[in-house]
Amino acid sequence: MNKDKKIQELVDFYGDWFKDGKTRNEGKMTSELYPYDEMFSPIRINKMTVKNRLVMAPMGNISMCEETGRPNEKMIAYFVERAKGGVGLITTGLVPVSHGIDNSITEMGKLSYFPRIDRSRTVFSGWRDLAAGCHAYGARVFIQISAGLGRVGNPQCLVNEMKFPNSASLNPNWYMPQVPCLPLSGMKIHKLINNIGQAAADTMAIGIEGVYLHGHEG
Ligand SMILES: Cc1cc2nc3c(=O)[nH]c(=O)nc-3n(C[C@H](O)[C@H](O)[C@H](O)COP(=O)(O)O)c2cc1C
Repeated sequence: MNKDKKIQELVDFYGDWFKDGKTRNEGKMTSELYPYDEMFSPIRINKMTVKNRLVMAPMGNISMCEETGRPNEKMIAYFVERAKGGVGLITTGLVPVSHGIDNSITEMGKLSYFPRIDRSRTVFSGWRDLAAGCHAYGARVFIQISAGLGRVGNPQCLVNEMKFPNSASLNPNWYMPQVPCLPLSGMKIHKLINNIGQAAADTMAIGIEGVYLHGHEG
């Protein structure tokens, strides 16, 4: 047994959770449901039909883009591979639309480490390639639009850009509580609302089927 103090704390915290057969078996794949007819039957959601019930959960695509925010080849290949594997609905990780509003999402020189869905045809063409690659395997694609990271944003912006991170209200930063997150002004909130609407419209124009709204911890 590892005697590392932190690990021991975690083990104590979870108690016998892992030993409790009932909890552990809840989500277990079982042969009782074989051949998973429901799982592999199509489902209609409003005007859209998804070929099965397999939905890829959104997982952040940090550094999977060009500095402009265009989804890069790595990101496109990553999603196309999942579509090829049979996923019915692909969901991207969070795509912030709060550049210039949430300081924690921008790198030095206003470059982006998150994929973006705004600004230019170059950026949009990356999304078109991603969607076309997934559609070729019959998958649907949703983008997860995010208002930003709020208090769980990277406080590095203080050093990189000499700007404080932001949140809905005056909050301590999650990673460095000594760093305050400044509240957004009404004007910035309005801009954010506009950006979210515009991103949703652009998503549709690109040929992507839908959007999620990201509700982050911050
Ligand atoms: C590496 C990683 C990145 C994630 N990024 C996002 C994200 O961008 N947006 C989101 O809503 N959830 C995100 N999540 C949460 C997952 O989408 C999912 O809800 C979570 O893993 C619970 O699902 P599970 O029980 O199937 O693992 C992330 C999870 C992981 C492990």
